[in-house]
Amino acid sequence: MEAGTPGGISVQDEAVDKSNFKKCNQIAFYRRQKLLRPGKSLYRVLLDSVTLSDENVKFQIIHEGNKVLLQVEIYEIEGNIFRLKIDEASPLRPRYKVPDVLIKEPTTQRLLISHKEAGILVLSSVNEDYKLRVTANPFQVELQSKGETVMSVNSNGLLYFEHLQPPPSDRYTQNEEAASDSSKEKQEDLGLWQEKFGSFLDIKAHGPTSVGMDFSLHGYDHVYGIPQHTETLLLKNTSDGDAYRLYNLDIFGHKIHEKIGIYGSVPLLLAHKPNRTSGIFWLNSSETLVDISTKAVHTPSRSAAETAKQRAVPLTDVRWMSESGIIDVFLLMGPTAFDIFKQFAQLTGTQALPPLFSLGYHQCRWNYEDEQDVKAVDAGFDAHDIPYDVIWLDIEHTDGKRYFTWDKKKFQNPRKMQEHLRKRKRKLVVIVDPHIKVDPSYILYAQAKEKGYFVKDRNGQDFEGICWPGSSCYPDFTNPDVRKWYADQFAFKTYKGSTNILFVWNDMNEPSVFKGAELTMQKDAVHYNNWEHREVHNLYGFYQQMATAEGLIRRSSGKERPFVLTRSFFAGSQKYGAVWTGDNTAEWSYLKISIPMLLTINMAGISFCGADVGGFIGDPEPELLVRWYQAGAYQPFFRGHSNMESKRREPWLFGEKNTQIIRKAITERYVLLPYLYTLFYRAHTAAEPLCLCFSPGNALLVHPVTEKEAKTVTVLFPGSEEVRMYMNLWEPFCLGFVFLQIPVFQRGGTVIPLKTSAGKSTEWMIDISYELHVALDAEACAIGELYVDDGHSFQYLHKKQFLYRKFTFHKNILSSSLVRLKILQIDTNIKEIVRKSTAYLRDKKDKSGDLQVCNTWSVYIF
Ligand code: GLC
Repeated sequence: MEAGTPGGISVQDEAVDKSNFKKCNQIAFYRRQKLLRPGKSLYRVLLDSVTLSDENVKFQIIHEGNKVLLQVEIYEIEGNIFRLKIDEASPLRPRYKVPDVLIKEPTTQRLLISHKEAGILVLSSVNEDYKLRVTANPFQVELQSKGETVMSVNSNGLLYFEHLQPPPSDRYTQNEEAASDSSKEKQEDLGLWQEKFGSFLDIKAHGPTSVGMDFSLHGYDHVYGIPQHTETLLLKNTSDGDAYRLYNLDIFGHKIHEKIGIYGSVPLLLAHKPNRTSGIFWLNSSETLVDISTKAVHTPSRSAAETAKQRAVPLTDVRWMSESGIIDVFLLMGPTAFDIFKQFAQLTGTQALPPLFSLGYHQCRWNYEDEQDVKAVDAGFDAHDIPYDVIWLDIEHTDGKRYFTWDKKKFQNPRKMQEHLRKRKRKLVVIVDPHIKVDPSYILYAQAKEKGYFVKDRNGQDFEGICWPGSSCYPDFTNPDVRKWYADQFAFKTYKGSTNILFVWNDMNEPSVFKGAELTMQKDAVHYNNWEHREVHNLYGFYQQMATAEGLIRRSSGKERPFVLTRSFFAGSQKYGAVWTGDNTAEWSYLKISIPMLLTINMAGISFCGADVGGFIGDPEPELLVRWYQAGAYQPFFRGHSNMESKRREPWLFGEKNTQIIRKAITERYVLLPYLYTLFYRAHTAAEPLCLCFSPGNALLVHPVTEKEAKTVTVLFPGSEEVRMYMNLWEPFCLGFVFLQIPVFQRGGTVIPLKTSAGKSTEWMIDISYELHVALDAEACAIGELYVDDGHSFQYLHKKQFLYRKFTFHKNILSSSLVRLKILQIDTNIKEIVRKSTAYLRDKKDKSGDLQVCNTWSVYIF
């Protein structure tokens, strides 16, 4: 297997080997921070240093041991957000502050000092709803909302800040010979100036720079977020094991229920209790570990009668530890979960509105071999009457893994192939990985080399690592000039053989470096402005996707929306496209874990996400494949993909019965697209995550079947009791009973827009009529909405060309009101939709007597 064995090693075998990856206790900064145990913090506020400005409150804190001064800044940001920044008061050199993730400098509100005496400083928000109680000795901050303590900071005394020190020339290196064995061992153990992992040596040019802090979440025992891990939705207690790790890694064949970080990281944690949701956004792009410990604390009862029994209140302690940077943390005060999503989006942006085609079904494989193969697979969908929108080409389509090129034998005429697809109203996605083959005759390599655009090693040479093409260099996407240059590569005249139906897949951008420490880049590699890789690691893929999306926008002179899928991501990646969960395995347990993984990614702001349908590694049994299609049809990004060693997996290869069920699942997806697209519009404009509580939006509740031979499923309806349902995958109707194939329910009180049927692809469906599915609530009412635009351009934004309609069913009358419709150049397509939906409403009104009242949920038979 050529591609799987660059440099003669089997990457796949090697990657499964767990010893390639660190356990927490093999991470030096974690060991150092863990030496600090919960207790009284050694930091004290210098109350004389407090200053107040329109923007923030500043003061200094001193470490009673080493006397180092830290500068603390507290901001109140519009919309119930507080920001706490801690940096050294006078660092030897500036410390890394994450750029480009916040969409703008947040708008601050003036805090008031309402009390400053006896070692306490009380800050209040202008509206007095929030109070920050800063205790001077030890330094602690308590955040109160209308008298209720929601969160406290440093209450376990785990604020940790390694100040920059001069290099150890005189202290360690010169004296190394003289140093005793035990002190050498100690140095090594602490990994202050260098750290070993196997045969890898990380030399820390600036020494130890780690930061950390603890937060106590009062009354909370449910915490979520911090993707990406192969874990349950509810975050687990880490007291007895490894902390959750946020460090983007390419772990082929990753196991499930592990805390190691895979591919992408979003350092956002959400805490939920009955009346309140809060969030902590720890803005740091270096390797980060999160310890979670939930316990019940006993608070004294208020009434004398209760003195014997103390009230047990839950409390969750969250300890963040990062290898470098500063402490820059946003405390999102909710109070509802939807407020948290809005607050996070206010900081990092909302989900980009995807082009409509990208919400259709995607057919991928490593690899579709050549032009004939592409045409045959495309024709196969039509022959089997299965809708699909996009066919994908993996790394083998290139000339020797030189991205932006084509294998001249297999893809002799890529433009012609795309014209063929275009006629059939379909699209092409090709892979563009970040690594660039070391080959002076490869124009991309030659240019980047000449311009000095590659990441450097610690000696100032271009960093070279091994990836699919063999020896490769890595563009430094943290440099804005490099991003611009990279974006220019997507121009039609530069990217030969590309057309405007070609879109892009960014893979291996953690970045993956096959023979590197933990299969990624050395932390002591050097980026733009001399920042070490350790500072920016988790941002590498974020920046590649940013540059790629920009390139696709620019090639259309700013007119068309891009589609870019990325494997690696960070907070804010939602602005640039979609993500998927990487190399999963074709086993039931991976289907099952994909659900909480996707929900977690959604909660962290990235709505457009999916998992490889069928499982990438191995071969799914037909029942698993079918169940995976049924789950994927309701997930935001819907792509079938398989490894090059897996058997072919086009949906019609598993016998007529299975083809039928897969066809039905994909067809349902297409019928549901108006609803899904409307949800994306809501995610884009109002930061509402696409799937929550196992449901895409709030109108549908989907309960994917993740068990083999499932006969029954127990569904817990939100706010209601558990209901046991019977299922039969093969015969949905038998003996007069309705057996569900997959439980999908519509909430009473909602109207969802659908198409009356599916077409061969989204573009084939423009003329298909809309229909509304109305499920009434106990009062016989329902509401819903529909968003429609041209599906591909930025006209909805620049010219407000879209239709946004609200539907209300009340007193047996279905009425519709325009939320917004402003069409400057009337587009026949939109006119047609307006006409059709009005006609349909009239029709519905006449027949309104047919609508059934259902108490809470109506079964949407699938
Ligand atoms: C990585 C990707 C996978 C892709 C393969 C070859 O393993 O995760 O999706 O097919 O590389 O490019």
